[in-house]
Amino acid sequence: MAKILAVVGSPRKGGNTEILVSKMVEGAGAAGAQVEVIRLGELQIRECDGCHACWRGRPCSKKDDMQGIYPKIAASEIIVFGTPVYWYGPTALMKAFIDRFVYFNGEANRSMIRGKRAAVAVVLEETHEQTWRPVVEFFERSLGYLEMKPAGTIVVGGVGEKGAILKLPERLEEAHRLGIALAGEGR
Ligand SMILES: Cc1cc2nc3c(=O)[nH]c(=O)nc-3n(C[C@H](O)[C@H](O)[C@H](O)COP(=O)(O)O)c2cc1C
Repeated sequence: MAKILAVVGSPRKGGNTEILVSKMVEGAGAAGAQVEVIRLGELQIRECDGCHACWRGRPCSKKDDMQGIYPKIAASEIIVFGTPVYWYGPTALMKAFIDRFVYFNGEANRSMIRGKRAAVAVVLEETHEQTWRPVVEFFERSLGYLEMKPAGTIVVGGVGEKGAILKLPERLEEAHRLGIALAGEGR
């Protein structure tokens, strides 16, 4: 059974990111995956300051909610990263979360992330590729650097208002199908 950790990086509860990720989760769950959803807006995740305690075999020096998430990441086979576009980048919540992946860049912890699959879900108000492409590349390059493997990307443009994505059932259906495909990707 594939173990999936789905991360909602929008601070807006019940927003478009959460709806999109929920559809993926629904599909994955229906296809037999075990899925846990975490909402970064409900957690305290501090910035990484590069102290590199984690590279010297010590725990992360930041005593916050990331301490509980590292084991969840290690125990998952697939991670779903969901974020809206905020100023041509991910949200500050998602950026802080990914910054803390420096933890996995040290020799001791690299095996906790290497080879895991990563799916990316992005929503935005505009529709231009120039707007969302930097966000997708941010994930591709950062997660690729950590030797994660791409497992699918969905970008839904034209959704500004909270819940606007509900007016695009075919895109939600696509997210559902992606979730089903993820469930079949467990190592
Ligand atoms: C601080 C902020 C910055 C944003 N920047 C952009 C942007 O650069 N381009 C864009 O298309 N939409 C931008 N948006 C709109 C959001 O991407 C859009 O409303 C999205 O649906 C929000 O997702 P959510 O409902 O999951 O929070 C921005 C919204 C906020 C609040």
